[in-house]
Amino acid sequence: MKFLLGLFALGLGVCLANAQEPTKAIAVLQPTAGNNVTGSVTFTKSGDAVKVVADVTGLTPGKHGFHVHEFGDCSSSDGNSAGGHFNPMHKQHGAPDASDRHAGDLGNIEADASGKAHLEWSDKVMKLSGADSIVGHAMIVHEKADDLKTQPTGNAGGRLACGVIGVAKP
Ligand code: CU
Ligand code: ZN
Repeated sequence: MKFLLGLFALGLGVCLANAQEPTKAIAVLQPTAGNNVTGSVTFTKSGDAVKVVADVTGLTPGKHGFHVHEFGDCSSSDGNSAGGHFNPMHKQHGAPDASDRHAGDLGNIEADASGKAHLEWSDKVMKLSGADSIVGHAMIVHEKADDLKTQPTGNAGGRLACGVIGVAKP
């Protein structure tokens, strides 16, 4: 009987752990007031990394700051309701490949002459589960390039699009 109870507890534990650990997440980007920037960003667990794939349209050609922000709130017309960069580890702002960076720092996405941008990046800092998970926070695309050094924003200017990161179908 003890053995069966033990098995049951183990089974329940595995179910609960699975329920709390998404392997894929998505942010659908909606334009802030005054522009037409849309797109989507997927985050897929791949070993101990998270693969980020983004497609964004309606941009001006060139680089645009691209970050996960603290609050999963895109309700304000300027996107400022999403707060600052998601930074659960209390680090400095930096490039995505820097050791000192906000968890949300994805650097820039670069648009071509037609205003389309595509990004693929394997991230070693972001998590899809646990206390520091990016799920429930928000993805922001900026007006200007992230200079990868100005604290704490990268001086990327206004916010063109915002999308709350939610659990996706694996
Ligand atoms: Cu940002
Ligand atoms: Zn940052």
